[in-house]
Parts: sequence; C-alpha cells; structure tokens
Amino acid sequence: MSSDQQQQRPISTIVIIIAMQTEALPLVNSFQLKEDADSLFPKGTPWVRYHGTYKGLNVNIIWPGKDAVLGVDSVGTVSASLVTYAAIQALQPDLIINAGTAGGFKAKGAGIGDVYVASEVAFHDRRIPIPVFDLYGVGLRCGCSTPNLVKELDFKVGKLSTGDSLDMTPHDEASILANDAVVKDMEGAAVAYVADLLKVPAIFVKAVTDIVDGDKPTSEEFLHNLSAVTVALGKSVTQVVDYISGKSILEL
Ligand code: ADE
Repeated sequence: MSSDQQQQRPISTIVIIIAMQTEALPLVNSFQLKEDADSLFPKGTPWVRYHGTYKGLNVNIIWPGKDAVLGVDSVGTVSASLVTYAAIQALQPDLIINAGTAGGFKAKGAGIGDVYVASEVAFHDRRIPIPVFDLYGVGLRCGCSTPNLVKELDFKVGKLSTGDSLDMTPHDEASILANDAVVKDMEGAAVAYVADLLKVPAIFVKAVTDIVDGDKPTSEEFLHNLSAVTVALGKSVTQVVDYISGKSILEL
C-alpha cells in the first residue's frame, strides 16, 4: 500500500510510548489493557507492552520498563529510541503517540498541568559546531499534522525540545531558546527520529510538571506535581485516542 493510501484509511493500530510507569498506569486502566504474558521483545529486555482493543482500535502502550540494576524507570533517549524501533518492527502501527510529562517555560505561556501537542521536536544537547553536523545534532522534525484534533480538543500547541537531563545547563538553555521550545522532555526527539526513519506518523502529547524558568528546584517541583499531572495527561491521551477512533491520519 502507498503511504497516501495508508493515510486515508481508518487508523487501526496505535503504539503509545510512555517512559514512566506512573504515567502509563492510568492509561492502562482507562483502556483496560493487559500486560503481555509472553513478551514480543528480545529476552532479557525490561520493555513492557500492555495491549487490548479500545473503541475499535488495537491499542498498545509500550513502557521501557525498569533499569535491571537500579530499578528505576528507563527514561531518556536511548531507551525511547530502542523501544520505538522494537515496537514498530513488531506491531507495524499506523500511528505512534509519545505521551509524558515535561518541563514548561512560563515565559512562553506554559503553566503546571497544561497539556501540549508538539508541532515540532528537536534535541538541545547534541551540540556539534561543524556545518551541517550542527543541524544533524538538532535533529528537527515535525509532529504529525493534527489541525482538527488540536482545535476540537482545545490543546495548546508548541515546540518541544529533548535532552537526556532533567535539569538545564546554560548551554542547554541557549539551544532550547534557539529551538523556540515551550516544553522540554527527555524522549520526544528520539521517538521522532525512529518514527521518521520507519515512516510512521507520530504525535507528541506532553503535560507540564515543572516550570523550568521559575524559582523552584526542578526535581522537587517535578516529583511534587507528578501524580496530579499524570491524571491530566491520562485524560488528554484518552481524549486523543477517542478522537482518533474511526478516523484516518488525514482527518486528524
Ligand atoms: N519531564 C518533566 N519535567 C522535565 C524537565 N524539566 N526536563 C525534562 N524532562 C522533564
């Protein structure tokens, strides 16, 4: 099937990539998904799939699982790109949704609990000051165009910048400003890279847990707001999946 034909037929299989278990579980419950008894993924990987049918869609939540040694969620770009690749290979989805929490910039209008759909994603910690490698490092990609979805569900839309740190160095800050980002996460641009390689449309839904240009320490603010904001994220992703049901990529 050509990619035009694929974009015109109703979406059938979706993969939702979520880095933290706390972020994933409300959605697992809301869609009544079941954890795979036999993993699709290579033996020994901590990657977890929850799946089921919801409103006619084959819904798969992929969580990179806990680090085998340290027992914490496998956050960040390395795990995100690996699970995105493995999930696309195994499930051939029509659409990827990368959902998670993010830091927001109040100077650009972000507030705690706001949920954004990213128009563009880029990296802010891959500085390679050599012509053309500089652009490769930034790795700018567009999210799947969803004008009807963001309008009807009244989402905020803004640019997302990704790096492997929760905090922000002055170098990161300069790159994030250059990326014109309103939200900052640790997975989006890596998911976008793999989705683009394998030609799967991707949507990025990010809920703000902490204000990066505020006066509170990021990790404290993040942990303080995580569970409440995760509820907001779950509601938004459920709305997105409800909206997707019965539609094609071109109708989003
Ligand atoms: N996820 C939640 N808050 C974040 C931040 N400030 N930076 C990166 N990822 C985040």
